[in-house]
Amino acid sequence: MILNQFSLSGKTAVITGCSQGIGNAIAAAMAEAGADVVGVDIVPQPCTKKKVEETGRCYLELEADLVDCTAFDDVVDKTIERFGHLDILVNNAGITRRNMAVDFSEEAWDAVIAINQKAVFFNAQKAARQFIKQKTPGKIINIASVNAFEGGVKVIAYTAAKAAVRMITMAMSNEWASLGINVNAIAPGFTVTQLTEPMRGEEDRVKEMMTRIPIGRWAKPDDMAGAAVFLASPASSYISGATIVVDGGYLGR
Ligand SMILES: NC(=O)c1ccc[n+]([C@@H]2O[C@H](COP(=O)([O-])OP(=O)(O)OC[C@H]3O[C@@H](n4cnc5c(N)ncnc54)[C@H](O)[C@@H]3O)[C@@H](O)[C@H]2O)c1
Repeated sequence: MILNQFSLSGKTAVITGCSQGIGNAIAAAMAEAGADVVGVDIVPQPCTKKKVEETGRCYLELEADLVDCTAFDDVVDKTIERFGHLDILVNNAGITRRNMAVDFSEEAWDAVIAINQKAVFFNAQKAARQFIKQKTPGKIINIASVNAFEGGVKVIAYTAAKAAVRMITMAMSNEWASLGINVNAIAPGFTVTQLTEPMRGEEDRVKEMMTRIPIGRWAKPDDMAGAAVFLASPASSYISGATIVVDGGYLGR
């Protein structure tokens, strides 16, 4: 029964940065597929909590600044306390800072790298330790970007971080796949969320990008949900170290 292999029934998924945008869409989709959700964000997540609970699944809302890598210890502890096990981690929290490379500040560089790159590894490390302790399979899904494949403009630190996410996804897979832990990534294309608001204000850039999106529109957060549920489910059990591009064809141009 192939459709059964897409079920997340009985699983617990931790999703970072899920108050809005792509994380919100992934949380709702994973709940629809049967998972209980632990939402972690620097801000409260009333909309995500409501969407998850409407599916009949449970939602544990945690507020944490994941720039502090020790914060994820508490996330794992509270997940186990409430649900007894952790099965899926979606490393989604992220920020960007836009500026030309000649003007890019050290402060902006450090801020972007801290959450988009460093936290991704240390959250994954802590989830992997928990999977190993539980002696159960685990799924780690890192949210990269098309900037893991192309340099972009005005996003030097973001590109550096997302390229690193793609590569550490492979490196973690190399060490953990034999332990039953699948580590994969999703590389979203241009998606209508708060993160892309400043870029969407740059008319010339938007026009130029639209000519490079064969599907002819920007992504909606929901466009990322199918790939996330797939990578979290047994249907993807032989996929490890991969980055699935969900970009409307953008990178093909
Ligand atoms: N929107 C796009 O076009 C696009 C494209 C490629 C990749 N992405 C990636 O998708 C992910 C989600 O982005 P989005 O577009 O939904 O943006 P968003 O700004 O709507 O959501 C990001 C979330 O991360 C949270 N967050 C930020 N810093 C945090 C911290 N220190 N601790 C905890 N939570 C924190 C925010 O509060 C927010 O809820 C990011 O990793 C982003 O880089 C987005």
